Amino acid sequence: MIKTKVTEILGIKNPVICGTMMALTGPEFTAVCSNAGGLGILASAIYRKAELLREALQKLKSLVKEPFAVNMNLFPMLKPPNQMKHLKVMIDEGVKIIETSGHEAPEKFLHLFKEHNITWMHKCAGVRYAKKAASLGADIVEVVGWENGGHVGKFDIGTFVLTPATVDAIDIPVIAGGGVVDGRGLAAALALGAEGVLIGSRLLITKECPIHDNLKKALLNCTPYDTTIVLRSVNNALRVWHNPAAQNILELEESGAPDTELFKAASGMFTRKMYEEGDVDAGMMTIGQGLGLCEDIPTVKELIERVVKQAEEIMRKLNPS
Ligand SMILES: Cc1cc2nc3c(=O)[nH]c(=O)nc-3n(C[C@H](O)[C@H](O)[C@H](O)COP(=O)(O)O)c2cc1C
Repeated sequence: MIKTKVTEILGIKNPVICGTMMALTGPEFTAVCSNAGGLGILASAIYRKAELLREALQKLKSLVKEPFAVNMNLFPMLKPPNQMKHLKVMIDEGVKIIETSGHEAPEKFLHLFKEHNITWMHKCAGVRYAKKAASLGADIVEVVGWENGGHVGKFDIGTFVLTPATVDAIDIPVIAGGGVVDGRGLAAALALGAEGVLIGSRLLITKECPIHDNLKKALLNCTPYDTTIVLRSVNNALRVWHNPAAQNILELEESGAPDTELFKAASGMFTRKMYEEGDVDAGMMTIGQGLGLCEDIPTVKELIERVVKQAEEIMRKLNPS
C-alpha cells in the first residue's frame, strides 16, 4: 500500500488517478477505474445537455463503490456544453470531487466548489497555471508533461522537469502525469515530489476499455516514436497517434487551411468510428509516448495493482534498510 496526501484527500486506495478520456470515460469505465482502487473521472463534456449528464451520474453512482470525480473540460471545443448548468447538476447529484482541465483556471465556478465542499483538482501543462490554480484555492494540481496523450500546452516541458518545478512552486499536493504506464513511473513521480500519478494512455490497452479489439492490438504495437503533435497552429497543441488521419491534419495546418477545416478533420465523430468499428485509420486519436512501453492487455485492477506493487519493489530496492 502506498499512502500519500492525495490518497488521504481523495479517500482512494492507491495514488493512481485514471485520466479523463472523453467518450471513453462514461459511467461504466469510470466505475471500473474507481472500483479497481484508482480514481475514475467521468468526462462531463460528453454530454451536451445537463439532463443527460444527470442520467450518466445516476448510472455511475449505481455502479461505483469507491470515490469518483467528474471532469469539466475548459479547453476550446467546437460545441461546448453549458458548464454552469453542468456544474449545477453535479452539485445536485452530490459530486464530491471535480477535476477541471484547460488553459484557464475556472474562476467563475470556484465559489460553488467551496460552498458545496467539493474537492477541486486542476489539470494543466505548466507551472504558471499550477501556481494560478493553487492561488485560487485548488486542493490538488495535476501537471502533465510533454510526453502525455492529450494537450501538451505551449512550453514543451517533459514530466521529469515539470513535476519537481511544480512541487517547488506550490504548497498543495501535485500529481504527475505524462508517460506514466507502470510502477517505474509511479516510483519516479514520488521521487520527484509528486503525491500520485495520472495515467491516461495506458488505460486504453486494458480489457475493460471500451474501444474495439483491433484498435487495442494496433496500439499494443506502437513504439514511443508513433505519436505527433497536431493543432498547434490553433493554439490547441495535442499529442496524438501518428496515423493517416493525424498526417492529414498536419498537412492541412502546413497548407494554412482554415480553422473550420482543421476542426472538422479532427472531429470526434471519426474517433468514435475508430473506437466502435476498429478502423485504425479513420480518425485522430489522443495517445501519449508511454504507450510504446506497454506489452499486454490487463484488467484495470490488474494494472493498478501491478503499478503499485512494482513501485513498492523499486522503493525497497533503493532503500533496502
Ligand atoms: C484517448 C484519450 C482521451 C483523452 N481525453 C481527455 C479529455 O477529454 N479531457 C482531458 O482533460 N484529458 C484528456 N486526456 C488526457 C488524460 O486525461 C491524461 O491527462 C493523459 O492521458 C496523461 O498522460 P498519458 O497519456 O501519458 O498517461 C485524454 C487522453 C487520452 C489517451
